[in-house]
Amino acid sequence: MGIVTLDKDVAAARESCRIVRKVLNELAQFTRPGVTTAEINALGRDIIRKEGAVPSFLNYNGYPAAVCISINREVVHGIPSADRVVEDGDIVGVDVGAYKNGYHGDAADTIMVGSVSPEARRLVDVTYEARNRGIAAAVQGNCVGDIGHAVQSYVEANGFSVVHQLVGHGIGRKLHEKPQVPNYGKAGNGMKLSNGLLLAIEPMVNAGTAMVRYLQDGWTVVTEDGALSAHAENTIMVNGNHPEILTA
Ligand code: MF3
Ligand code: CO
Repeated sequence: MGIVTLDKDVAAARESCRIVRKVLNELAQFTRPGVTTAEINALGRDIIRKEGAVPSFLNYNGYPAAVCISINREVVHGIPSADRVVEDGDIVGVDVGAYKNGYHGDAADTIMVGSVSPEARRLVDVTYEARNRGIAAAVQGNCVGDIGHAVQSYVEANGFSVVHQLVGHGIGRKLHEKPQVPNYGKAGNGMKLSNGLLLAIEPMVNAGTAMVRYLQDGWTVVTEDGALSAHAENTIMVNGNHPEILTA
């Protein structure tokens, strides 16, 4: 479990997360119609390395890139490709992990490219607000289920669905640690949250069915009905009533 208590460990987690946010910001600037997802990945990988970090995802269980890029009906874990060109109106999920001084940081954004449809915009807005509400529930003494409940109730009240087949996670010396952090749940259920716990809170929100499936590449997760999906993730540290958003 990713609970940090020593100052030097907190500093290391903050540093990895700072790098992740820097990469996401630069990739958001770079992502426009005509660029390929391979180019986005290469830029992200290079910034991570220039910062003295290692891309957390590259070779993780055989994943072949530094950045996951998932467009429109793709939910998460899209594999960058020189053949995949970003188009006007796309919603582009960009997920970045960096490892430095023994700690991982992990965060994702969904970038709206050019003129996206009103429905796509609403999906992305709801996803970010759901993430924020999940984070706000990550206070000392609350439970993991309070996070999921905050996310799910907001998303469903807005007519969208949360993916159940994939979850957020503890993070720290390993990319994925206990506990699992589902984007659904009941208030008061699950593990109690204590100070210093590092969590990656990452709602995946679908415009249609909650069901997802894997493509033949073994990685890319897509919506079963082909409808749009959005993803937003931050790494946070539980800290009394005010979670510290390390990838802010
Ligand atoms: N943020 C994602 C996750 O926590 C990214 C993992 S991609 C992988 O699952 F390639 F590393 F698996
Ligand atoms: Co994650």
